Amino acid sequence: VRAIAKRRLPRIVFDFIDGGAEDEVTLRANRAAFEALTLRPRYLRPVETRDQSTTVFGRRLESPVILAPTGLPRLAHWEGERAAARAAVANGTHVTLATGGSTRLEDLMEETPGPHWFQLYLWPERARNEAMVKRAQAAGYRALVLTVDVPVLGRRERDLRHGFTVPFRPRLGMALEVARHPRWIAGYARAGPIGFANFDEPGTRQRPTAHHKLTHRNPAAGLDELRWLRELWEGPLLVKGLLTAEDAEDAIACGADGIIVSNHGGRQLDGVQTSIDALPQIVAAVGGRAEILLDSGVRRGTDVVKAIALGARAVLIGRPWLWGLAAGGEAGVARVLQLLRIEIDTALALVGCRSLGELDASYVVRTGAVENVRN
Ligand SMILES: Cc1cc2nc3c(=O)[nH]c(=O)nc-3n(C[C@H](O)[C@H](O)[C@H](O)COP(=O)(O)O)c2cc1C
Repeated sequence: VRAIAKRRLPRIVFDFIDGGAEDEVTLRANRAAFEALTLRPRYLRPVETRDQSTTVFGRRLESPVILAPTGLPRLAHWEGERAAARAAVANGTHVTLATGGSTRLEDLMEETPGPHWFQLYLWPERARNEAMVKRAQAAGYRALVLTVDVPVLGRRERDLRHGFTVPFRPRLGMALEVARHPRWIAGYARAGPIGFANFDEPGTRQRPTAHHKLTHRNPAAGLDELRWLRELWEGPLLVKGLLTAEDAEDAIACGADGIIVSNHGGRQLDGVQTSIDALPQIVAAVGGRAEILLDSGVRRGTDVVKAIALGARAVLIGRPWLWGLAAGGEAGVARVLQLLRIEIDTALALVGCRSLGELDASYVVRTGAVENVRN
C-alpha cells in the first residue's frame, strides 16, 4: 500500500507523511524493535474459532486497531478524514480527528457519525483551548486525546528541505514534480486549499507558512493544563506521547483515563525509545488504573499481537491509513484495516490463542535477550 501511495503522491506530500525527525533513527527503530521481538507459539490448542474484538473505555472494537490522529489527511486524498471515518466505522473501529486535521470537526461527526475521538494540541491561550474542547464535546466526540510530545515541532528535515507549508502550496521547484501527478492534482482542485480546518492560525489563511513556525503548541504547558482539561472534558481523557513510567504516573494522578504510548511515529525527538520497548514498564507502573494503547511502527498483525501480549488494549496506526487513503480513498483505508484484520486472525491462530484476552507476555521474547543467551 505504501508503494502505491508513493507512486500516487507528489514527493512533497509523500515525504510529509512518510518522513521522521532528523536522521530518522527512531523511525527505523520503530520497525526494528517490533522485528526484534519474537513470538513463542503454543500448539495443539484448539483455535478453530477466533475473536479479535476488544473493548476500549467500555466500547467494543471489532479489531484492536484505531486510526491515529494525523494533520492534513486531505493532502493524501481530497476526501481525507471523511473517507477514513467511513472505512473505519464500516470495519468496526473509529478515527481520531486531529486538531491539525483538514476537515471541520462538526462536519465529520455529522456526516460520518461514530464513536470517534478528538485529538487536542494546546495553544498558549486557555480560551482557545477551551473553545476547541467545548466544540468537540458538543459535536459528540467520545474521548479526548491530549498529545503531549509536541512542545515544539520535531525537525523533519524532508519537510524543511522541500519548503512544506500550511496551507499547502509547493514552491516552484517542487511544483514541477507535483505537475507529474495529474490525478492527485484533480483531487486537489476538487478539495480547494488544504489547510487546518478547525482553527484560523493568524495570518496563515492568506499566506502559506512553514509548518514549524505555526503556533498550535504550547511549550509552557505543564501538568496544570492536564488537570484543567480533566475538569473541562466529560468523557474519557487520554494522554498521547508518553514513554516513561514516571510520566504515566503523573498523567494518572492528574485524572487521565488512558495512555497512548507513542513516539509520534519517529516524527518528534529523534533517538528516543520505541513505544514497544517502553510499553512493559508503563504497563507495570499503571497496573490496570488506566487503559494503555500504543502506536508507532505498527505495520503487521503480528505487531498488534506483540503489543497486546505486552499489555496494550489496542493499537493505533498513523502512516498505514494515510497510505491507504492515498492509494484508494475510502476503499484504500478499508483495505489496510482488512489486511490487518486477516493478519491478526492468522497470527492468533498460529500462536495458539482464540482471543486477545488469552495473550500475555509469555508469548513474546526478545531476540538476543540476556536470558536467552545464558540458556
Ligand atoms: C502525516 C502525519 C501527521 C501527524 N499528525 C499528528 C497530529 O496532528 N497529532 C498527533 O497527535 N499525532 C500526529 N501524528 C502521529 C500519529 O498520531 C501517530 O502517533 C504515528 O503516526 C504513529 O506511528 P506510525 O505512523 O508508525 O503508525 C501524525 C503522523 C503522521 C504520519
